[in-house]
Amino acid sequence: MERAAGDPGICSTRVSEILAKYSRRPDALVSILHDVQKEAGYVSEKAMTEIASELDIPVSKVYGVATFYTLFSTRPKGRYIVRVCENAPCHVRGARAVVEALERELGIPMGGTTSDGRFTLEYTSCLGVCGVAPAIMINEAVYGNLTPERVPLILKEYK
Ligand code: FES
Repeated sequence: MERAAGDPGICSTRVSEILAKYSRRPDALVSILHDVQKEAGYVSEKAMTEIASELDIPVSKVYGVATFYTLFSTRPKGRYIVRVCENAPCHVRGARAVVEALERELGIPMGGTTSDGRFTLEYTSCLGVCGVAPAIMINEAVYGNLTPERVPLILKEYK
């Protein structure tokens, strides 16, 4: 299967294998979506349609569950997920200016993904490093004591 940059996708055979793992039980829908998301990075419309068809439930139900839980994404995400802490300690120490610098450097608004599929920018809750607020996380790496000036230097590591 041909896969576009930033859209890892998942083939029908793999969706079918995941469904078989859960014996095609409609009550395993959350687990099925979780496995699809883990493998593909998101739950595509195509995957939702296939799941609905194989579980013999309406697509609207699959879509409802996939959009209800914040851990699921129905859009492809970038290779690098830039998460900005939006809780109070980071906010009062300048997270807004860091967000503006990230948006400017990446050329996308908060919540967006770069057209090359490299970066997704999103908010997250406390990263557990409030002592070095404001903080961001890029995939598994945490960066603290951020200033707008440091943003281009950090992103350069991932370009
Ligand atoms: S509030 Fe931002 S890391 Fe804790």
